[in-house]
Amino acid sequence: MCGIVGAVAQRNITPILLEGLKRLEYRGYDSCGVALHVDGQLQRSRSTSRVADLEQQIAQSGLAGFTGIAHTRWATHGAPASHNAHPHFSRERIALVHNGIIENHEELRAELTALGYVFESQTDTEVIAHLVDHMYSGDLFETVQQAVKRLTGAYAIAVFSRDEPHRVIGARQGSPLIVGVGKGENFLASDAMALAGTTNQIIYLDEGDVVDLQMQRYWIVDANGKSVEREVRTVHAHSGAAELGPYRHYMQKEIFEQPRAIGDTLEGVTGIMPELFGDKAYGIFKQIDSVLILACGTSYYAGLTAKYWIEAIAKIPVNVEIASEYRYRDSVPNPQSLVVTISQSGETADTLAALKHARSQGMLHTLTVCNVDTSAMVRECALAYITRAGIEVGVASTKAFTTQLAALFLLTLSLAQVKGRLSDAAESAYLKQMRHLPLAISAVLALEPQIIAWSEDFARRENALFLGRGLHYPIALEGALKLKEISYIHAEAYPAGELKHGPLALVTDQIPVVTIAPNDTLIEKLKSNMQEVRARGGQLYVFADADSRITPSEGVHVIRLPEHYGQLSPILHVVPLQLLAYHTALARGTDVDKPRNLAKSVTVE
Ligand code: M6R
Repeated sequence: MCGIVGAVAQRNITPILLEGLKRLEYRGYDSCGVALHVDGQLQRSRSTSRVADLEQQIAQSGLAGFTGIAHTRWATHGAPASHNAHPHFSRERIALVHNGIIENHEELRAELTALGYVFESQTDTEVIAHLVDHMYSGDLFETVQQAVKRLTGAYAIAVFSRDEPHRVIGARQGSPLIVGVGKGENFLASDAMALAGTTNQIIYLDEGDVVDLQMQRYWIVDANGKSVEREVRTVHAHSGAAELGPYRHYMQKEIFEQPRAIGDTLEGVTGIMPELFGDKAYGIFKQIDSVLILACGTSYYAGLTAKYWIEAIAKIPVNVEIASEYRYRDSVPNPQSLVVTISQSGETADTLAALKHARSQGMLHTLTVCNVDTSAMVRECALAYITRAGIEVGVASTKAFTTQLAALFLLTLSLAQVKGRLSDAAESAYLKQMRHLPLAISAVLALEPQIIAWSEDFARRENALFLGRGLHYPIALEGALKLKEISYIHAEAYPAGELKHGPLALVTDQIPVVTIAPNDTLIEKLKSNMQEVRARGGQLYVFADADSRITPSEGVHVIRLPEHYGQLSPILHVVPLQLLAYHTALARGTDVDKPRNLAKSVTVE
């Protein structure tokens, strides 16, 4: 999703801005641009192609300067076109980039048009540029503080003026923005990773902050205009997206990294204890009587899986809510509930807003399972478990999901322990199984050649059904999401017992029915559901545990996983579904790592 970089320095900052944009590319974007202060003028370069093309364009034009801003845009208002790409100018005096969505942009547009401003784009961002210009008093810091008071919605902005050559102003509300502190130079970015290699001294701006960035100093005021000090942290952000190595795509690499990612996530866990989630966890876990999980997409499916675990093992009632629904719904708040957010990026706008909503309802016991330790989500929650998946570049989440599951299983066991529902014997048996997970996943990854053979058939289809039962129903949902996200095949997932209540009508010999068949207590029920499919000519593609006694026959294709892995079985069963989606997309020739219309980090509502 959109990314911001800004800089004020005593050297040419073009390479820093472009490098920052490259580091933000993985978030997804459809256009990009840079604006610089050059000899008393604003100059810019924009592209609807990749950052590499923008770089070439800039190399040809020789664009260089000491003060400037840059942006990657993921279209919300207005098509991905050059005239909608940021930075936006107002009257050749103000240059501005923006992440987020301005909700009152139509009203402001009408007001500014009446004042004589001419709009070149369909964006909500251009409205802010003209608003700042209209209110400009000769002091940009002061002007921006006043201008943002007129904005409703979410924003992170970086702005500079032709008339103040050594100054960039930043402001945030609802979208992340950080300051990078350098020596005789200072920076702005939407993510610390954008500045890796430039500075590791990072300030996370608070909601409502406005920052005045100059070469030798920076100055921050809060939403009330009061001057504030914010902590400067040393951040060891990844120096950039890892190399692809022998893999064709990041998604494939990330699928194969799962044994390592799970091993790292569980490293140092020698026993179950609530303190794994933070110093105050014991007191909080003792008090709570229920769990409310808030998340989106794949992280939501991790939450659904955790519901099965927590209710079965810790015997605590769990609600799992899609964050974008929960935040606007009249729900019944329970201050005794543990609010758990799950997020790979830790910056998902809907999940952050849902957390805020829960807190505003008096639900103050908060915990996050997150992959980015410097993210807003971690900063906003009282307790946290940081997964160690490492940077995930592919838009389709894979290793983030399985590491979330590993962390959520630890949460389940910790809750059970505090509530007196985990025996020592059960604890050590679960821990042993968890330690063995990397090896078990490696065995599943070895099934890739068989999955490739299936993918050729899937690549010719336009629809697919995924079935699972119990703990593996969320895995069916995740498998269907993976397939539709990157191969654009329409895929739906159902609990297998629900088939006869409607979706069976879809079953013909043209629809592949992917069935997740672990050898658990529901296996005989599942076999009956499989018969229902076969009786209508449906083609079954079954991922069966080695000990589940499902054999291939006409219309029944079977790939065998290792023997049943008990409660942790979902972590194994999702892996072949990731591979199936990947190879099907590959066979269809789609852009696997950057599927159409999607972004990695969804920082707008
Ligand atoms: O960063 P988050 O985990 O909060 O992201 C949530 C979803 O946007 C994300 O899981 C999305 O559904 C992925 N593209 C799924 O592969």
